[in-house]
Amino acid sequence: MKALVLAGGAGTRLRPITHTSAKQLLPVANKPVLFYGLEAIRDAGITDVGLVVGDTAAAIRAAVGDGSSFGLDASYVRQEAPLGLAHAVLVARDFLGDDDFVMYLGDNFIVGGIAQLVEEFRTTRPDAQILLTRVPDPTEFGVAELNDAGQVVGLEEKPQQPKSDLALVGVYMFTSAVHEAVQHLKPSGRGELEITEAIQWLIDNGRKVTSTTISGYWKDTGNVADMLEVNRMVLETVEPRQGGMVDAGCDLIGRVVIEDGAQVSGSRIVGPVIIGAGSRVTDSYVGPFTSVAPDCVIADSEIEYSIVLRGASIRGVRRIEASFIGHDVQVTPAPRVPKAHRLILGDHSRVQISS
Ligand code: DAU
Repeated sequence: MKALVLAGGAGTRLRPITHTSAKQLLPVANKPVLFYGLEAIRDAGITDVGLVVGDTAAAIRAAVGDGSSFGLDASYVRQEAPLGLAHAVLVARDFLGDDDFVMYLGDNFIVGGIAQLVEEFRTTRPDAQILLTRVPDPTEFGVAELNDAGQVVGLEEKPQQPKSDLALVGVYMFTSAVHEAVQHLKPSGRGELEITEAIQWLIDNGRKVTSTTISGYWKDTGNVADMLEVNRMVLETVEPRQGGMVDAGCDLIGRVVIEDGAQVSGSRIVGPVIIGAGSRVTDSYVGPFTSVAPDCVIADSEIEYSIVLRGASIRGVRRIEASFIGHDVQVTPAPRVPKAHRLILGDHSRVQISS
């Protein structure tokens, strides 16, 4: 069995961060979201992985390489534009051959992995096995309709009037029957070849499509609120560790990871928190559910429930909450006179000012 990991796409809901970074490489507890998926695939006993990549191909390749650091054999399939999940299957035809495969969306986060699901698929071998979960707002997802016997009878992509609250999770298992299905697709209203329509084609043509409903934790990390929430959840599970230097003037409370080469002085760190290698935190408060990537500076500031990316610096600012701070960003106070905000914001930035 192979795995097809979708790591292309545009990431519009995570702009401006995704103007310069692949959304699948944004970190959760200082590790790219994509890596959690690759580890889940490896733990399910699959080694042959094809990554579908687009404009951010170079960054994904630099991060994943030949896959050996994950115990995987990774290859890359170029998708010239994000023309849909089923289009990704179409362009990966040579890599997939006639093998069964699991398709894993690179920005999805599933607690507990996929080993059991893959095992179930290997034993029963339907033509497609999908994963469902109940969500409060199904209009943002693919939605499944089941009959009284629990069989999947219909699928719709982001419907205005959803027929159920069962959303498709971004992990799908297929036999080679899906290749015939994707051949029949036409671009949808949003101009994409939809995998939901391919699965609908399988149903309509008498192929066996099964579903498993999961009640555990799943998130599509497509927007900032979801990223912060997944970060919170993962930080709650990290093992406290003190690799870097922490001086006597510090208070470290709860689950705190200070990575090797980080320096913390005169600060109060209330976990769960991770401070990345080479970062310096001085005279500051870092509160629960905060991930500070490597090589950041937090000085004379307060921050909590936030993600700070590599090389960012926050000096003399209180207080930052529920924020996503990009690579090499500088946050500082404005001069006292005149009392004004001074902003240099990239395209699609979002700022909430409390004054
Ligand atoms: O997260 C689950 C949802 O994922 C499902 O409920 C939906 O049925 C499914 O269509 C998908 O919806 P999204 O709108 O969240 O898909 P998104 O465009 O964010 O793409 C998901 C991943 O696949 C993401 O890592 C980018 C990648 N991708 C996407 C497209 C459209 C590609 O690699 N190539 C593509 O052409």
